[in-house]
Amino acid sequence: MNKAYDVLIIGGGVNGCSIAYQMSKRGYRAAVLEKTRVGAEASSAAAGMLGAQVEIKENGPFFDFARKSRDMFSELVPELEETSGIPVSYVRNGMLKVAQADTEVNHLLDMLAFQKKAGERAEWRDPNEISVQEPNIKGDIKGALYIPGDGQVKAKELTQAYARGANLLGADIYEFTPVTGLLEENGRINGVTTPSGCFYAEHVVLAGGASTDLIPTAQTYIPSMIPVKGECISVKPAKPIMKATIHASDLYLVPKPGGTIIIGATEQNGRMDKPVSAGAVQELLSKAIRLVPDLQNAEWIEAWSGVRPQTIDGMPYLGAVSIKGLWMAAGHYRNGILLSALTGEWMADLIEGTAENEEWIRAFDPLRLKEGKEDLVETNH
Ligand code: FAD
Ligand code: GLY
Repeated sequence: MNKAYDVLIIGGGVNGCSIAYQMSKRGYRAAVLEKTRVGAEASSAAAGMLGAQVEIKENGPFFDFARKSRDMFSELVPELEETSGIPVSYVRNGMLKVAQADTEVNHLLDMLAFQKKAGERAEWRDPNEISVQEPNIKGDIKGALYIPGDGQVKAKELTQAYARGANLLGADIYEFTPVTGLLEENGRINGVTTPSGCFYAEHVVLAGGASTDLIPTAQTYIPSMIPVKGECISVKPAKPIMKATIHASDLYLVPKPGGTIIIGATEQNGRMDKPVSAGAVQELLSKAIRLVPDLQNAEWIEAWSGVRPQTIDGMPYLGAVSIKGLWMAAGHYRNGILLSALTGEWMADLIEGTAENEEWIRAFDPLRLKEGKEDLVETNH
């Protein structure tokens, strides 16, 4: 089976599927090649927060990219739901980032200052105001940053919606199709090999999440990924006990439409294994119950894990790799769901040659950390 496309995307996570959706919308013939099932990895493990302000701690291109991506959801979601028929449960329920120690207060006040300066809405809440806004939060809370503009989606559903939407706009989605190598001709990548045959395209995008640097790319330099395992649990209280998403320094509680609350997440650098440990469940539950004691009466639902794709400097790799025809869209770490909306558009702009924001081109350049970038082809595996 030999197939020809304009663009091949390796990896059917939220970012690969978003790129396929945007390329298909622009009339390109796109295909997603997914090792197992669409959304099988980090994209279905995510809590679905669109936490541009809650998660990003300083001003700069990454913050600008994140908040632009977040703001795209209010138009993108209705479009995607209509195209795909899959509801993604988008709500802008706000986030309350609480300080549980005096040192955290200063840190949150710094965040408040830079976010307001950047023109975003952010408000300070003292302990009394917190107990009015979210009466079920207990314990010694020193204050909180309230961010009304950050929202959430259901991550698995969002990934499926991008994939189905892309498919209905003409893209082919190949599941159980691992990419085993790249094809090169006259100094450019022009396709990939898989156990079901070769696929050809003018552009190939590496979007394999934490496994992107394991995709066999022969002599081509690909920056390394740092896998960061995360474990989450969910419970369901008999009635709603919080409105906003609650963020603490090492914990978050995300009240999902439908009534469950996602409690996350652990962070284990360098781990790619799947099992959820009993210790992680105990730690997440006890921290959550300390913060919101009513959670002890909630019904237990489930526990799961996923692997975040981290990069050395914490910013994603979005752009051309060191051989013509090859692109990379990976390394979204803790924010791949949030960043997926703009990642799809930005990669489509880059591939079309219409991307204009020079600051983003430089900040997310996959070659930014490579010495001797002028050497076009080099071994890293
Ligand atoms: P992935 O979802 O990992 O997809 C990559 C795909 O590529 C996989 O399906 C894999 O099978 C496939 N693949 C790999 N190699 C090959 C190959 N050789 N051939 C074919 N296919 C291949 N982000 C947020 O924005 N908000 C959150 O609230 C949030 N919460 C999180 C909670 C947890 C516990 C975790 C673990 C992550 C969370 N994240 C969150 C981060 C987010 O999940 C990731 O950043 C995002 O899912 C990465 O998406 P991706 O498409 O780049 O990678
Ligand atoms: N952004 C939440 C997480 O990665 O756990």
